[in-house]
Parts: sequence; C-alpha cells; structure tokens
Amino acid sequence: MTSYTVLVLGSGGREHALAWALSRSSEVRQVYVAPGNGGTNQTALPHLGASPITSVAIPPDNIAELVGFARRQKIDLTVVGPEAMLAAGVVDDFRAAGLRIFGPDRAATRLESSKAFAKAFMRDLGIPTADYAVFHQPDDAYRFLDSRAQAGRQADPIVVKADGLAAGKGVIICSDLDEARAAVHRIMVERAFGSAGQSIIMEECLAGAEVSVLAFSDGHSVLMMPPARDHKRVYDGDRGANTGGMGAYAPAPDIASDTALLEQIRKKVLEPTISGMAGRGTPYIGVLYAGLMLTDTGFKVLEFNCRFGDPEAQAIVPLLVNRGARAGASLMALLMACTERQLHQMNVNWRDGACATVVAASGGYPGAYQTGFPISGVEPLLNEPDMVVFHAGTAQHNGELVTSGGRVLAVSGLGHDLASALNRAYAGIARISFDGMHYRRDIGRKRLNGDE
Ligand code: AMP
Ligand code: GLY
Repeated sequence: MTSYTVLVLGSGGREHALAWALSRSSEVRQVYVAPGNGGTNQTALPHLGASPITSVAIPPDNIAELVGFARRQKIDLTVVGPEAMLAAGVVDDFRAAGLRIFGPDRAATRLESSKAFAKAFMRDLGIPTADYAVFHQPDDAYRFLDSRAQAGRQADPIVVKADGLAAGKGVIICSDLDEARAAVHRIMVERAFGSAGQSIIMEECLAGAEVSVLAFSDGHSVLMMPPARDHKRVYDGDRGANTGGMGAYAPAPDIASDTALLEQIRKKVLEPTISGMAGRGTPYIGVLYAGLMLTDTGFKVLEFNCRFGDPEAQAIVPLLVNRGARAGASLMALLMACTERQLHQMNVNWRDGACATVVAASGGYPGAYQTGFPISGVEPLLNEPDMVVFHAGTAQHNGELVTSGGRVLAVSGLGHDLASALNRAYAGIARISFDGMHYRRDIGRKRLNGDE
C-alpha cells in the first residue's frame, strides 16, 4: 500500500473538507494544511480510518517557503484551494521545483482570473454564455450605456463585472442603466475591487435556476462530480448582499436526475473547454467549475472557476468518502490520476443520497465583523454520525476555539435524500454557538418546495 504525504494550501472550509477527505483516503499517511485553521490539527483517528492532519504556519503569499516545506517534508502531492494562489502562479513554481501539484498553472487559471479571457474563449468555441462587451475605459462604457438608452433600453437590467479576481464580489446586477452607470463608476473609477477593475465586461442579464457543475480534469478527459447548488445571498429568501456562499447541497436533484442535460453540459461546456485549453498550449489540469444558469432557452455559463467551490466542496467531498465494499477511487487516487493523465482509468462510487452544508457566519458578515469570540458546541459533534463540522474562520487561542473570520464554519449533513441531509446539518448547527453567529435557515428549501 502506498503511503503518501500531502499538503493542502489554504485556510477555508473548502481546504478543511479536502484535508478531511484526504486524511480518509487509504493511500494517505499524513496531511499538512498551510496555513490551515482552528480545525486542521487533528490526531489520527484509526477507528474512522483517518490519518493525522497538521497545520503549518506558512502564509499563502510565501510560495518560496511553501516550496521549501514541500521539499523538506518530501510531500508527494500538493493540492491548491484558493484561486488567488493559482493566479499567483503557485503551480508553476512548484512544478519548476520538480514538485507534484494539483491545480491549473497561471496561464490555464485565466479562465477564472480574467472574465474577458473566459468570455472570448467561450465565444470562440461556441460555448453557450450571455452576450457581452468588454471595456477598458470608463468613457467607452458610458457611451455604450448611452446608446442603449437611445435604443429605449433604459429600464432593462444589465450585469457589470470586474474583469479580474474580486473574491466573488466583482459582479453587480443592475436593474436599469442608472445603476449600471454607478457600477461602472464604482469598479473602474473608484476601483472598488482594485486592479481587478482595470477592465470590465457588461453582459445580458439572465434568469433561471443556477447550478455549479464541477469536474476533475487531467488535461485530457473529464470526470464530473455530482452537480451542486450554492446559496450566495446572506439572508433567507435570497435577500441581502452576495457572500462567498452561505450553504450548498449536492447532488442538485433536478439536474442530477436529468442525465440528458448533464451529458449536454459535458459535451458543450466541459469537454470543449478542456480540449480548447489543450489546443492553445495551456492544458488545464485541476478542478474545472462551471457556474451555469438554466434559462428558458437552455443553459448558459455564467463563469468558470479553476478550483473547488466553497462551500460546494463541503457538500461534494463527503459523497466521495465511501468505505467498505462500495469503496471506489478515493480523493487522493483521483487527484494523483489527474497529475498523471490517468483520469480515464478511475472508477468513482459517489455515495447514494445527498449531502447538505450550512455555513455559520460572524455578525456583520459579509460587511465588517469582529473576531475572537469563543465558539462552543463543536467538540461534542465529532462523534455524531452523518455529520461533519468543517472549520473556516476559526483559530485555537490558548486552548480555546475562537472565531477568526467572516465565514466561521460549516456543518455538513449526510442523508438518504436532500431533506434528511438538511435535517442532519441543521441538527448540528443548532448545537453550535458564538457571539453574533448567524446562518441561513432556508438552505435547500426552494428545492424542497419544488421552486428550483
Ligand atoms: P459570477 O461570479 O460570474 O458567478 O457571478 C456571481 C453571481 O452573479 C452568479 O452566481 C449569478 O447569481 C449572478 N450573475 C452573474 N452573471 C449573471 C448574468 N449574466 N445574469 C444574471 N445573473 C448573473
Ligand atoms: N461558492 C462559489 C465559489 O466558490 O466561487
């Protein structure tokens, strides 16, 4: 039996979920997480088939130090969580040092790090997406909006997006042209998202249910994960500001049951993207995440992400952890296969049923919030069946678990269907508390009511 040492880069709930699943992969002996969070130090749990997880205090922008650590510890595989590290070229630097790493290099990451690049790529390949235009100067953007006004489209909604990475906040849905002018001003003139707003795109506003389709790729073939659904708004009923994501579930039953639709998404989006990137000399190895909207006239790609989603990972990854007779390829085996161009040989057994995850956030998030509040109720959930707590903005302070970020933790529940998975997640989160804690009470409800 192989015995791998693995390094996960990042500090969120997604990275904790990846570390958790890797620690439960039978091929893995030790998982390190840099920099990790208050949940990524865990001794081996042999009764659960889990190897130890250890936090390493190296900040994400110190790539040279991360390379040094990987060399010294003889890391067999490094897995990148956040897009900012991919865009900074962490994969290029690890590969240049002869180290094995899972994720797209800087050139392939442009699918996420430049929306203008992604839109042009989709247009060239005929991948369905909203009509759009790119602007590099605010005056050109205003002139475009003036011409729309002259064409009698003052009251039509339009979407304004910063070209670059903006931590999920660079998209402004404008209900009319006045709002669009204000959005152009905010992004391009005030530079609300910094250099991400050097260029913008404006695109047609679409309506419909959203779904996140994630796939592994080895640069050649794709392996789809169960389709997931995120909940981006901060409050129940999809009200309030956009967040990084307040909860998710997988599989999204309306999509998962439509095998013809999934096949179309594979054939019209995922496969052309992978072969298109290879054809351009920038092969894509990693997780390709297509954010799709199911409109009346068919599905359209809203965006590509070059990594696992957060909190989608916390809902998808637990479906991969099968033990016993039904065990298929582990997460470790899949990631290794991607780096070896052997993905087509993998046989995955996704768990039956569903997984749902609910995020607990700090008071004030996604706006300003305070940190350092003690968190209670996490420890007793460790041995609960069909339930996992994934830490995000948590830290250990003098032996006490305290809040240290906006999205603090997520509770994932497993069940034979979406309703029972949600019950487990909510039963868990109800037992956790910290000052100012808030979470959505309606994750999955639209789906259960048949409205999505
Ligand atoms: P993105 O970062 O591009 O996924 O955008 C974030 C969110 O903005 C998406 O999940 C959608 O809810 C919304 N969005 C993005 N593009 C559009 C569009 N063209 N029409 C309507 N909503 C959009
Ligand atoms: N949950 C959305 C994202 O990870 O981008």
